[in-house]
Amino acid sequence: MCGIVGIINSNELKVKSLNILSKLEYRGYDSAGVSFLSNKKIKTITEVGKISKLSKSLTSTYDNFHSVIGHTRWATHGVVSKNNAHPFSDQKISLVCNGIIENYKDLQKKYLAHYKKNIESDVETVFLVLKELSKKINDKYKLIKKLKSILRGNYAFLIYFSDTEETYALKAGSPLSIGKKMNSVYFSSDPSALDEYIYEIYHLHDGDVLRVSKSEVSFLNNNKVKFLPYQQSTNKFSKGDFKHFMIKEIHEQPIVLKNTQKYYDKDYFVDFRDKLKDLLQESNSFVFVGCGTAYHACLTAKYYFEKFTSINVSCEYASELRYKNINNKNSKAIYIFISQSGETMDTLMALKYVKSKGFNSIVITNSLESTMVREANITLPTFAMKEIGVASTKAFTCQLLALANLCLEVGVINKNLNSKEYLKLKKDLRNIPSKLNKILKMDNYLDKIVNLLSSAKACYFIARNNVFPIALEGSLKLKEISYMHSEGFAGGEMKHGPIALIDKEVVSICLNPNNELFEKSNSNCEEILARGGKVIVFSSKTSGSKKNLFEVILPKETYIDAPFIYTMPLQLISYYYALNEGTDIDQPRNLAKSVTVE
Ligand code: AGP
Repeated sequence: MCGIVGIINSNELKVKSLNILSKLEYRGYDSAGVSFLSNKKIKTITEVGKISKLSKSLTSTYDNFHSVIGHTRWATHGVVSKNNAHPFSDQKISLVCNGIIENYKDLQKKYLAHYKKNIESDVETVFLVLKELSKKINDKYKLIKKLKSILRGNYAFLIYFSDTEETYALKAGSPLSIGKKMNSVYFSSDPSALDEYIYEIYHLHDGDVLRVSKSEVSFLNNNKVKFLPYQQSTNKFSKGDFKHFMIKEIHEQPIVLKNTQKYYDKDYFVDFRDKLKDLLQESNSFVFVGCGTAYHACLTAKYYFEKFTSINVSCEYASELRYKNINNKNSKAIYIFISQSGETMDTLMALKYVKSKGFNSIVITNSLESTMVREANITLPTFAMKEIGVASTKAFTCQLLALANLCLEVGVINKNLNSKEYLKLKKDLRNIPSKLNKILKMDNYLDKIVNLLSSAKACYFIARNNVFPIALEGSLKLKEISYMHSEGFAGGEMKHGPIALIDKEVVSICLNPNNELFEKSNSNCEEILARGGKVIVFSSKTSGSKKNLFEVILPKETYIDAPFIYTMPLQLISYYYALNEGTDIDQPRNLAKSVTVE
C-alpha cells in the first residue's frame, strides 16, 4: 500500500512534502519519512506513526536542499518500526516504494547471502540489493534496468542517486503520476495530492522508467510520452465544522446523492444507453466485482437486478475472482467493477484479468483520474467528492445510486420495465436525499443505542432481502472504527447456527422494512429475545411488541430506496459508538483508505 512523493528542483520542501504526504496518508499511516537531497548530500528523517509526528521531527527549514522524496507506510512485510520505515537510504542512494516485492526472499539468497543482519522487509532488501549491484554497475540507467529485470511484484519506486543527482521512477502495477510546473517536477501515488503544485501531468504506465536530472525528465522506455494539462480537482480536504471526516461525509450524503442523481437523470444516459444496448446484445449476464464496502454495493445490486430486470447477475470478491478460471467461451458476461478509489489492487488486478480474457468491463468509481478508469471499456461516475475517512460512507451510497440507475436502464432496454414503472422508480431515487435529511434530524435514538452497545460484548446485524447487504455493511462499519466484534446475518440463517451466539451480553440490530418479510423478521427478533438477547429494530413500522426491544421508526421506504434509508442510521451509530470509545475514527488501527497491495 503506502503513498510516495517526490519533489525535484523546488523550494519550501518541508511544507510541500508534508502537505502532499498528509493527503496521501489515507494510503497508510504506520510510519512516515523523507529524504532531503542536494549537492550530493542526503538527509533522511523517519518516524513511526502519522505525518503529524514526522512534522514535529522536521525542525529545520531544509532550505539548502533542492529535492525531496517521501513516504507514508502501511506495513506489509516487516513490523511497524523505524527500521522498516521508508526512505531506505545511505549517503549514496535513497529510495521509497509503494507495493510489494514478491521475490524478496530469493533476492536475499542470491545477492545478500553474506549479510549477517536479519532483513525483515521486501523494500529494505531491494535497497541492499541495489547497493550491491551499484558496486559493479556504474551507469545508473543500466543499474536501474538490471534492478527492474530482477524484481517480481507490483510496485512504484522513486530512487535518488546522490553522485549524479538523478532521480529514477519505476512503475509496475502500483500507481504513480508525475507533474510539472515551471522547472519543478513532482511525483505522487495520487495525482490529486499535487493539486496546487502542477500545471501538467502524466500517469506512468506499467513498465515505465523515468529519469529526472535537474528539471529535465527523460522517458527511458517510451519516447512518445506526452504531458497533458492538469485539471485541479474540486475536492476539498477540510473537516469544516465537523469533528471527523467520517461524520462530515455522512452528513454530505443528501447533497452528493442529489448531484449523482442529477448526472444520471441528464442526457448522459442517451449516449450510455446506446453503448449499453450494444453490450447487452452480445451479453447474457452481469458479474459485479468489488472488495469490502464496494462488495456490499455489488450484493445490493444483485437484489435490484433480480427484482427489476431479467438479466443473470452474480457477485465476486475481486480477491477471489483473480484466481478463478473464467475461460468459459459460452459466457458473454459483462464485468462491473465497483471501487471508490479506482486503485484497489485486488479489484484492479481482477479487471486486468477479465480484460485479458476478452470480457467487456464497466467501472463504477468515485475517482475519474484512477487507474481503473484507464483500464475499463466504460466508466460510470459517482459524485461523492473526495472521501477521506477510512470508513466508506457517502461513496457507498453513491455507488448504490449509480447501480440502481444502471439497473433501471437495463430494465428498460430488456423491456422488463415499462416507462411508467421506470419513471416512478426514478422518482423514488430522486426522493432519497429528502428522506436522508429527515434521518439526519432524528438524533433521539443515538445515545440509547450507544449505551446499549457500551455494555455489550458483540453486536450482530440481521436483515433479509435487499437490506441484508446493508446488515453486512453496518457490521463492517462498526467493527472497522470501534473494533467491537460484529457480524451480519441473513435473518433466515439465524436458526442454522448463529443463534447459538446469543446471550444477554449480545446486542442484535434488526433491519426490518415494511414489506412482505416484515413478520418473518419480527419472528427473528422474538427468537433472539426469547434467548435473553437485546434487540434494536430499525423499521418504518412498529412491530407492536411490548417486549424488551428498542425500536427506531424510519421514514417509509420503497424497494429501491430501502438500502439507502437503512444504511445511514447504521453509519451514525457506528460513528457515535466509536466516538464514545475514543478510537481513531478517521484512521482506524491496521487499516488504510486505499488498499493498493494484494
Ligand atoms: C470500508 O469502509 C473500507 N474502506 C473498505 O472495505 C473499502 O470499501 C474497500 O477496501 C474497497 O475500496 P475501494 O472502493 O476504494 O475499491
